[in-house]
Amino acid sequence: MKIRIAMTGFGTVGQGVATLIREHGDEYERLYGVRLSLTAVADRGGAATDANGLDLDALLRAKADSGTVATYLGGKRDLAGDAFLDAADAQVLIEASSTNFQDAEPGWSYARGALARGMDLVLASKGALVLHFRELFDAASAGDRRILFGATVGAPLPVLELADRVLTGTTLTAVEGIFNATTNSILTSMEDGLSYDEGVRRAQASGIAETDPTLDVDGWDAAAKAVILANALFGANLHLDDVPREGIRGVTKADLQAAREAGESIRLIARIARDGEGVRATVGPVRRPLTDTLGRLRNEEMGVVMHAEPLGLMDSTVQATGGIPTALTVLRDIFNLARERGWRDR
Ligand SMILES: NC(=O)c1ccc[n+]([C@@H]2O[C@H](COP(=O)([O-])OP(=O)(O)OC[C@H]3O[C@@H](n4cnc5c(N)ncnc54)[C@H](OP(=O)(O)O)[C@@H]3O)[C@@H](O)[C@H]2O)c1
Repeated sequence: MKIRIAMTGFGTVGQGVATLIREHGDEYERLYGVRLSLTAVADRGGAATDANGLDLDALLRAKADSGTVATYLGGKRDLAGDAFLDAADAQVLIEASSTNFQDAEPGWSYARGALARGMDLVLASKGALVLHFRELFDAASAGDRRILFGATVGAPLPVLELADRVLTGTTLTAVEGIFNATTNSILTSMEDGLSYDEGVRRAQASGIAETDPTLDVDGWDAAAKAVILANALFGANLHLDDVPREGIRGVTKADLQAAREAGESIRLIARIARDGEGVRATVGPVRRPLTDTLGRLRNEEMGVVMHAEPLGLMDSTVQATGGIPTALTVLRDIFNLARERGWRDR
């Protein structure tokens, strides 16, 4: 069965999604009984649409050659917003535009517009979830729409899958994680003798850190993920302001050395836990034993530890981060959505 998909944002993640579908589309159809068809893609320069499915080779080439998908045959420089969603004729919107914690745009408008048009949502951008979590899910349930957002919480870590499927029948009491690969890489570099600035440059050279790493090093990205997890897994209604947050700028090589001599590391950890009747989320540098799941993670590794009663601890770690692992997480959500919706040929 064909699934018609629109996508907003065609950067690292969006192009990763298109590349995976181009290279593995036949295999996906054989394995999951669904043919993924991108019918509309938008970036800041405009949009490309084709109700029969865009030619992904030509789309990726247009983007590489001109910087925008609008130069795809029949593409339009001024197609955006509601007009784009109307033209898309899609069942699912993948929202993979830049994350914005000021006003959540353009993701928030695209997400609302897609739900209003009867589309299900797969989110890679975090802004709408962090600023408008309840409104977003209220809008989805009013229209019997689904929202999947595995890519927003430390992709490709299966945090939501662990909570939803694996820990069924338990009560989650706390979730702790290293959900930001950039800060983990910088702290590891400093343990290896580099200065903070050299650690930032090394993370930038490897492609994981932004030119301006503020959102990562000051803990905003981890705090955003803590808000999403608090609201999604614990039914809270937290906002970024509710999360006490400290980044890694204050961590020195001497601090890391002292920790190491005590058999510990310092890691930027987000913690979400039940607190009486409420839920508390925090982000900050924490000393952890080198033998513990989070304490031993180095470089770009990320991990999560779930505390569930009466089971105890369950954890998961990943080494792969970045465009393709995130794009795979987006597709994981699409396949799970297809299964849930019964979109399958056989
Ligand atoms: N990269 C990762 O590993 C990762 C992991 C998890 C989640 N995410 C999230 O996934 C999203 C995409 O990440 P990325 O790494 O692909 O970012 P990126 O490479 O910076 O790409 C962002 C894309 O959004 C587009 N965009 C920005 N404003 C837009 C607007 N007003 N209308 C339409 N398109 C707009 C950009 O257009 P132009 O191409 O024209 O500039 C670009 O194509 C972000 O929200 C990010 O936080 C990324």
